Amino acid sequence: MAPAATATPPALNIGQIDDIQELRKAKPMIVPDRYVRGMDERPTLAPISSSMNVPIIDVSKLVHGTQEQSQQELENLEAACANWGFFQVVNHGIDAALLESIQKVAMEFFNLPLEEKEKYPMPPGGIQGYGHAFVFEEEQKLDWCNMLALGVEPPFIRMPKLWPTNPANFTETLDLYSKHIRVLCQTLLSFISKGLGLKPDMFHEMFGTCVQAVRMNYYPPCARPDLVLGLSPHSDGSSLTVLQQDTNSVGLQIFKDNTWVPVQPIPNALVINLGDTMEVLTNGKYKSIEHRAVTNKDVDRLSIVTFYAPRYDLELGPLPELVDETHPPMYRRYNHGEYSRHYVTNKLKGKKSLDYCKIQTVVSS
Ligand code: OGA
Ligand code: NI
Repeated sequence: MAPAATATPPALNIGQIDDIQELRKAKPMIVPDRYVRGMDERPTLAPISSSMNVPIIDVSKLVHGTQEQSQQELENLEAACANWGFFQVVNHGIDAALLESIQKVAMEFFNLPLEEKEKYPMPPGGIQGYGHAFVFEEEQKLDWCNMLALGVEPPFIRMPKLWPTNPANFTETLDLYSKHIRVLCQTLLSFISKGLGLKPDMFHEMFGTCVQAVRMNYYPPCARPDLVLGLSPHSDGSSLTVLQQDTNSVGLQIFKDNTWVPVQPIPNALVINLGDTMEVLTNGKYKSIEHRAVTNKDVDRLSIVTFYAPRYDLELGPLPELVDETHPPMYRRYNHGEYSRHYVTNKLKGKKSLDYCKIQTVVSS
């Protein structure tokens, strides 16, 4: 997702969408056709060898470690960005109690009666509020997921009418959480920059007043997890994404070496991934990795996802420092706001979003 919260929803005919939480309560065994994926899209749920684990980065070593520890962890971070595009951070400085509070208010919201949640509706083709984002066609297959998506910063992307007033501490908790996640993103970006051999505050200066949005994804259990997807495969339109997930169920999978690798939850860790913006800026040295969510038969799952992206008016392209004769530019320059609009007005489809700026190389015969 890209947080272009200001995109005007186009007129759409996306058909009737049932609320799956309600459906699950009323008819637990039913999986409507609209959720059943074609054979080529159905997930593989067989347990995958745990030797393929997303790297873990200890933020306290980066920030407070001895010079040697910090250098070692910086190398680990560089390797994680280059080889995985995904990693989990531990000792990140955000209080476990705050992680618990955001999870609690999110669950309290999702557990409200439907008519309460529908007070914050996401319009067809819109990206903020409660509902289904990225649905543009009547025939489009739907994700087995309920979402609450909100623009957080800067103030002009905020739509206060869509911020739940129930639970009463929702806004206060999300604001505090977002502030801490923002600092974490800034810290990580400065080390990522350093690891690339650039000035540590380069991204910070370039991104300006960043756009920050949050999406809470609630995946009810599904009678046939083998037929549906919780969230369609996609890369994120952000620069960095921070995902907080339940520890009692697995659902996030990333596409690595032609396999879908599950991201095993670690208590109090946060999952970080690089978005399309970082792939462009690094001229493909770092990739924004395709990922998806699958569902579980008996357990539900909640994820709280923050998208951290540059200001909309930024013109960007591959950094000159990362372009040379052997690494010619792989992406054209573009305006980030226009790219975000492109992202949110198309359905999620693998890494298709990057076609927007990819320079197509013509192989002459
Ligand atoms: C997202 C995302 C995965 C998950 O919201 O962009 O990739 O596990 N979510 O919820
Ligand atoms: Ni994502």
